[in-house]
Parts: sequence; C-alpha cells; structure tokens
Amino acid sequence: MTTTVNDTSTLHLSNSPNISEFSPEQNVKLYNFHPPVDDFRAEVIQGLSKSQKTISPKFLYDKKGAELFDAICKLDEYYITRTEMAILQTYAREIAQLIGDGVLVEFGSGSSQKVRIILDAKPRLRTYIALDISHQHLYESCTNLVEDYPQLEAIAICADYTQPLQLPDIPSLHNKYKVGFFPGSSIGNLEPKASLKFLKNIANLLQCNGSFIVGVDLKKSKEILEPAYDDSEGVSAAFALNLLTRINRELGADFDQKNFAYQAVYNPIGRIEMSLVSLREQIVHIDDTKFKFEKGEKLCTEHSYKYTITEFQALAAQAGFKPQCVWTDPEELFSLHYLKVI
Ligand SMILES: C[S@@+](CC[C@H](N)C(=O)[O-])C[C@H]1O[C@@H](n2cnc3c(N)ncnc32)[C@H](O)[C@@H]1O
Repeated sequence: MTTTVNDTSTLHLSNSPNISEFSPEQNVKLYNFHPPVDDFRAEVIQGLSKSQKTISPKFLYDKKGAELFDAICKLDEYYITRTEMAILQTYAREIAQLIGDGVLVEFGSGSSQKVRIILDAKPRLRTYIALDISHQHLYESCTNLVEDYPQLEAIAICADYTQPLQLPDIPSLHNKYKVGFFPGSSIGNLEPKASLKFLKNIANLLQCNGSFIVGVDLKKSKEILEPAYDDSEGVSAAFALNLLTRINRELGADFDQKNFAYQAVYNPIGRIEMSLVSLREQIVHIDDTKFKFEKGEKLCTEHSYKYTITEFQALAAQAGFKPQCVWTDPEELFSLHYLKVI
C-alpha cells in the first residue's frame, strides 16, 4: 500500500508541488515533484518551434522509455554500462571507504543497478537518495532495492535535476556528509553551459566538504561510438521513436513514427548527435499548433558529449569542485571521477 500525504515543509524545489508518498511497509519514501504535463507541452512546443527542432532527452524516459533504456544497457555495442560497472567493481572498496558514514545521493538513478555494487562493498550504508524524472520507474527501482538491502532507507525524489534542488529536511540527513553519484555518462546529455550550471547546483547541494562521483564517457573513435548509439537490433531507434508515441499520448499530437528514421552521428566537436529524420515533407499538430517538417529535416532528441579526462576536470574545477582522483578501465573507454566540493 502506498500512502500520499501533503507535505509543505520538507522539500524546496522551485515551481513544484509539495507532495510526498511513502510506503509504510517498506523503507521507501517518495517525494513526487514530477513536472506537470503543461510544462512538458510548453517545452515540446518551444523545442519544435526552433529552427533546429529539438526536444530535451529528459522526456525520453516515460515507463516504456525507461524499459528500452534498460534494454540498451544490455546490448553488446553499448560498452558504457558494462565498462562503468567493471570500474565500479574494481574500485568498490576504495569508493566505500571514501563514502564513510555519509549519505549517498544518486542523480538520474534509473534502475538503481550501479548503486548495488557500492552497497555490496558497503553493507552498512543507511541512507540512499535516488533522484529521477521517471516517476514509476524510480519508485519500483527503490522498492526492489530495499527488498534486497533491508537495512537501507531509500528516499526517492521524482524531480528534474536541471532545476535548482534542495534535499528534504529529514533527520537522517542532518549534519551528514553527502556524496553525490551521477553514473551512466548522463553528464554528457547536458550542453556545455547546462553541464556547468548543473555541476554548480550540485556543488551547492552537496555543500562544503561534500563529494561527487561522476561517470564520464571518454572521447574515442566513431567506429566504437556510432554503433553504441545506433545498435544493430534497433533498440536505440525504438527508444528515440518512443518519444513521438509519448508526445502523441500525453499531448494529443499526431506524429506518425513511420515518417521518421533514427540516426546517430559522431560530430568531431566531441558529441554524438541523435535525431529523428523526417522521411518526407509533413505537418504535425499539437492542439492547434502546426509544425512543418521538410524532407530530411532533423528533430534532435539527444546529444551525448564526450570528454578527455583533463577537459572534464577543468569543467568540474570551474564549477567549484577539486578533482581528487579518476578511475578508468584498461582500454580507457570510460572514466569515473571523484571530486570534492571546495
Ligand atoms: C542515461 S540514464 C542513466 C541511468 C542510470 N544512472 C545508469 O547509469 O544506468 C539517465 C537517467 O536519468 C534520468 N533523467 C534524465 N534526465 C533527467 C532530469 N533532467 N532530471 C532527473 N532525471 C533525469 C532518466 O529518467 C534516466 O533514468
């Protein structure tokens, strides 16, 4: 059973309703600040009105999108998940020591799989905060987690991490050292200015003495990168096309998936560009607003920026972090950075 209570005092997230839900039988408490559908509508209309049509990747993760992303993580071509998990496994004891008796706060927690590696190395970790925009997936993942780690109190916050955030004012967080965790190369989905702003917000949230563990995908050849984002089984394509299904369902639009083809191309400025290419000239409606697509025109669904270790450390330093150490795999495909708030 899940109970919903009004809570006006515990969480301060700008422009969000204050509602919290908790499941009394389980150690999961859910703070629901899911952006309202009107925000989704406004952002989609704004994005489709740009000369380069763009929709933020944060909207890819409805329930189906979250499931498709989990399927991508298991693909051979998608080296990111297995490489980052191998790094976490190799350095789990060191990471556990660095966390000490702190509280772990994961941003974009998804299925909360990677945190299990840390929990296995640190069974006495008491409080885990998972923050994600995908409401149902977040709740189910936290519920599964506490079933497997019954000593754990999980605080699930459904919110948009690109907005200013503050953590709930609850006793288990008082005077606790906070360790942020941001795996999965999600930092790469943010444009350079947005990633600096995000890192500054996180430094502020974790507070003086807090630390941050961030997974950052490294620059490499397009022969490895492009198949990772456009696999032979078409799961990445289904993930991007599902965005159109979501917009149709939630905003009453009339996108026809058959009229779009998925594409992932490496741009040597250092990013993979994922888009849906219009296969013909067409008009799509949202309410009374019409959006014209030329044949061959691209709707950008996601960028994934790649960094060198030095580039990312410079960005982190600009945001108020002191790089402490970086762990990589033997082939240097991926990096895991440990940063301290200055
Ligand atoms: C690339 S997946 C990574 C999932 C997981 N951390 C991993 O490493 O496999 C990105 C996750 O971040 C969430 N997400 C994306 N944009 C977000 C945003 N603006 N605010 C909160 N969560 C977001 C998605 O719902 C998804 O679970």
